[in-house]
Amino acid sequence: MTQTPLRITTLKGLRCRECGEQYPAEARHVCEFCFGPLEALYDYEAIRGCTSRKTIEAGPRSIWRYRPFLPVVGERVIDVGTGLTPLIRSERLARRLGLGALYIKNDAVNVPSLSFKDRVVSVALTRARELGFTTVSCASTGNLANATAAIAAHAGLECYVFIPADLEAGKVLGTLIYGPQVMAVEGNYDQVNRLCSEVADRHGWGFVNINLRPYYSEGSKTLGFEVAEQLGWRLPDHVVAPVASGSLYTKIYKGFQELIKTGLVGERPVRMSGAQATGCSPVAQAFKAGRDFIAPVKPATIAKSIAIGNPADGVYALDLARRTGGHIEDVTDAEIIEGIKLLAQTEGIFTETAGGTTVAVLKKLVEQGKIAPDELTVVYITGNGLKTQEAIAPYAGETLKIEANLASFERALERARTLDRLDWQQTLV
Ligand SMILES: Cc1ncc(COP(=O)(O)O)c(C=O)c1O
Repeated sequence: MTQTPLRITTLKGLRCRECGEQYPAEARHVCEFCFGPLEALYDYEAIRGCTSRKTIEAGPRSIWRYRPFLPVVGERVIDVGTGLTPLIRSERLARRLGLGALYIKNDAVNVPSLSFKDRVVSVALTRARELGFTTVSCASTGNLANATAAIAAHAGLECYVFIPADLEAGKVLGTLIYGPQVMAVEGNYDQVNRLCSEVADRHGWGFVNINLRPYYSEGSKTLGFEVAEQLGWRLPDHVVAPVASGSLYTKIYKGFQELIKTGLVGERPVRMSGAQATGCSPVAQAFKAGRDFIAPVKPATIAKSIAIGNPADGVYALDLARRTGGHIEDVTDAEIIEGIKLLAQTEGIFTETAGGTTVAVLKKLVEQGKIAPDELTVVYITGNGLKTQEAIAPYAGETLKIEANLASFERALERARTLDRLDWQQTLV
């Protein structure tokens, strides 16, 4: 069996997405000439030379099976088993929506911290360590805080986390438990992010989504790689994914393109659709208005994990949706709650508000005729519902309190069945 040769370096440096200026692979994210964002630059011939379907399939059962495509140079990666989450063929949700081939990529069960952010942080902290950082940090809407704190603890890195002060209790506790210093900032995510840019300049820490952003964002490509591999080395026809900064959404597509470029999958057009909450939908608003710029908004939604009012990759997400024939759609908080319940009750997957948004947008796009029943569609579920319990608790239903005897149980059962019948009658009226 062919093994990936050790110490092949495929990372060539960084390149500005706007003007093409190149930089060494250091901790920087903005072009000095045009202020455009920097992206990792690879030697695709070297990747082709050391990578095949076989080498990948024989690799680790984690995102690191795609190591030649990731922006690290050494062999000593932080591998806590992140990635290779289930891709499930949907039966009941597909039938409910009238879709023929729907798959669910379930990152609600990613490890260690139950969201797709474990991917981007595993990559960012591996690179942080290679660059000599001993203190790492992030500006987070919640899931990134959980992932950074958990993986920094595993790697023995000092960790500072910045979050908006009004985050859900599960997200806060799920960060504190790993022992980082947590700064709960009186302000929204965009204000937290601005503060962190200043802290990064002054303290020289490795901020995963600021000065390490070119490395961090590449971790999301693995969501594209895995889906293609799990589909038997083919690309889907249509993708629906959540959009906050727009990084995840655009990098899934970059992953698909890299597989084509290196001959691992056949060329195939993929329509990329994005999901936002109406209460924070700057990209969806621009898409629908036919604008090519993003007007920042003040977030007001229960979907806090995707509440970014001034998205760093918003224009690239907009462009991608238009280029691929996809759509960026938004849904109300009530629809998000219905989306969470729909996924739970048809597929047994409890997702957080970002996943509720994505399922609700999937439903809306099908109803609008924007996803055809015969398209092979993948919906990305990126976070776990146990972390956003306050958003769904009032709508999840109630327990039946009974005494510890059979008569009490039978009375409760009869009551429940009567209520069910009344519910049905109301639905029929
Ligand atoms: C669960 C979840 N899904 C999706 C996203 C969107 O990520 P991005 O900023 O890459 O668009 C986030 C961002 O924090 C998130 O927490």
